[in-house]
Amino acid sequence: MCGIVGYIGHRDAYSVIIKGLHRLEYRGYDSAGIVLYDGQDLKLSKTKGKVSDLEAKAESEKTTIGKIGMGHTRWATHGVPNDVNSHPHFSNSGKLVIIHNGIIENYEPLKQELIKRGYTFKSDTDTEVLINLIEEVKKKENCKLGKAVQIALNQVIGAYAIAVIDVEKPDEIIVARLGSPLAIGIGEDEFFIASDATPFIEYTSNAIYLEDEEMAIVRLHKPLKVRKIKDDSLVDPYIQELQLNLEQIEKGGYDHFMMKEIYEQPSVIKDTYRGRLLANKGIIQMSGVEDNLEKFLNAKRILIVACGTSWHAGLVAEYIIEEFSRIPVEVEYASEFRYRNPIINKDDVVIAISQSGETADTLAAIKLAKENGAFVFGVCNVVGSSISRETHAGAYTHAGPEIGVASTKAFTTQITILTLLALRLAKAKGTMNNSEYQRYLLELEIMPEKVQEALLTNDVAKQIAEIYKDATNCLYLGRGYNFPVALEGALKLKEISYIHAEGYPAAEMKHGPIALIDEHMPVIVIAPNKGHYDKVVSNIQEIKSRSGKIIAVVTKGDTQVKALADHVIEIPETNEPFTPLLTTIPLQLLSYHIAVLRGCNVDQPRNLAKSVTVE
Ligand code: F6R
Repeated sequence: MCGIVGYIGHRDAYSVIIKGLHRLEYRGYDSAGIVLYDGQDLKLSKTKGKVSDLEAKAESEKTTIGKIGMGHTRWATHGVPNDVNSHPHFSNSGKLVIIHNGIIENYEPLKQELIKRGYTFKSDTDTEVLINLIEEVKKKENCKLGKAVQIALNQVIGAYAIAVIDVEKPDEIIVARLGSPLAIGIGEDEFFIASDATPFIEYTSNAIYLEDEEMAIVRLHKPLKVRKIKDDSLVDPYIQELQLNLEQIEKGGYDHFMMKEIYEQPSVIKDTYRGRLLANKGIIQMSGVEDNLEKFLNAKRILIVACGTSWHAGLVAEYIIEEFSRIPVEVEYASEFRYRNPIINKDDVVIAISQSGETADTLAAIKLAKENGAFVFGVCNVVGSSISRETHAGAYTHAGPEIGVASTKAFTTQITILTLLALRLAKAKGTMNNSEYQRYLLELEIMPEKVQEALLTNDVAKQIAEIYKDATNCLYLGRGYNFPVALEGALKLKEISYIHAEGYPAAEMKHGPIALIDEHMPVIVIAPNKGHYDKVVSNIQEIKSRSGKIIAVVTKGDTQVKALADHVIEIPETNEPFTPLLTTIPLQLLSYHIAVLRGCNVDQPRNLAKSVTVE
């Protein structure tokens, strides 16, 4: 995810763009850039770092003059965050300039083709490939910029929201979208372009949201023209009146980043498997896995190292990888692993999971594993982070920036990646029959819709939160795949609401925790209709006969648990290994509402930091 802003009109473009970039910084903040047409030429400033770093650089480089321009705040996908990889990117001639949010999946063959035709590249980005492709088309077809953009985009596979300026036609900006958002604000003799409406809300309340596969020519003193990229047909744009205030839209209309991130889960799970899961063809492809398949297949054991929520994702993965591919898996807290002289063999594969990619203990565990000759595979969200650089290979989760300190979408996207890995290994090892494999692939493909449905539990989660907001302790119970979800549910509650909570495998209750149960103890039981359902029902009976309050997460249509529990939260049906992707959702919502009702700072809970770079 990146943020893009553009302006064309009578105002000072610099201040519109910089202010807009600040508002979009939630979308990505590893580097930023701006380009302005100063009446003669395109002037560019860009830098690694935040928008405030860009401001300092642009002012010192005097990139502040102009009535047309565009800016970008980056969340790296291709190429580490540095000055060169920052947007905007120029074409080889220096005449065309682009900003881009998204991923061009087929950038490598396009790049090779352009290299053959003499193009050179300064950055590692897919975006620089796209702008040179546009330049090549413009030259070859001898056409206008709009046409060249359209022809080029028809050769591209991937997702994009782009804005392009041609120095020879500095009264227009060409924009287009597929899979990444793009809004156009329409003012009096001026236009604004942005990833969402936040950058222009104080200037105009009229906006057009481009649909997928649409492009627009935004030209001064001319009506806006929107076309279909595929067939060039004209589209009658729908102008919306924005009903938003600034405060709200900075968090995308949500009160807190955490809630926004909870609600992003359907789309980011899709982003995680985009281009990797070709369900109808029975294919899973992840380059980091394909390039090292032998290492995985020859592994006697997989060791997973992580901390906190990422460790919980590792536990879910342990169940899934062992079940699907029959490779033994051990999951370790990185902080324990690094200091306990662990046995690491050369034929071990170590998987390090980290949202931030900066967690000091996980980083140290990776170094230790490498020193002992193991192959280390990273699962990270932040592109170019220390862990992604330190590991031999890996896969990004593509969840977008997670700003709320309590991890939500990182967890479900980590599980998604590790499920893809488990299925890929099962296929390669022949440990799963074809029809079962195909069934899992098709189910994984529709998980975003099921997660969307699971989000409908928000109202009931809120009602339950009202009842239990003053609890002082809480127990979370689950079995099998949902034991780690119980741990994660408890962690979410304790970190943002400061209520003491513990997660346990349901069967362990009678070995101790059952002593805690009385009429004041809320017990959240994860009881989907698969796996050890009957055993969980027995555990619920045990709680009930000791007057505990039961909040059960069940599959839609459940009657048995419903008859016993004080409250039920219904999630959609899925196969057993995928239930954590759904059962997690109401637990996140429950924690969120309890924390809000208790007046806690949900996004920045006390004593915590988003990235734990010290041990
Ligand atoms: C909990 C949470 C933390 C992190 C942990 C590891 O909501 O966010 O427990 O999961 O600090 O962080 P990463 O995944 O960045 O290594």
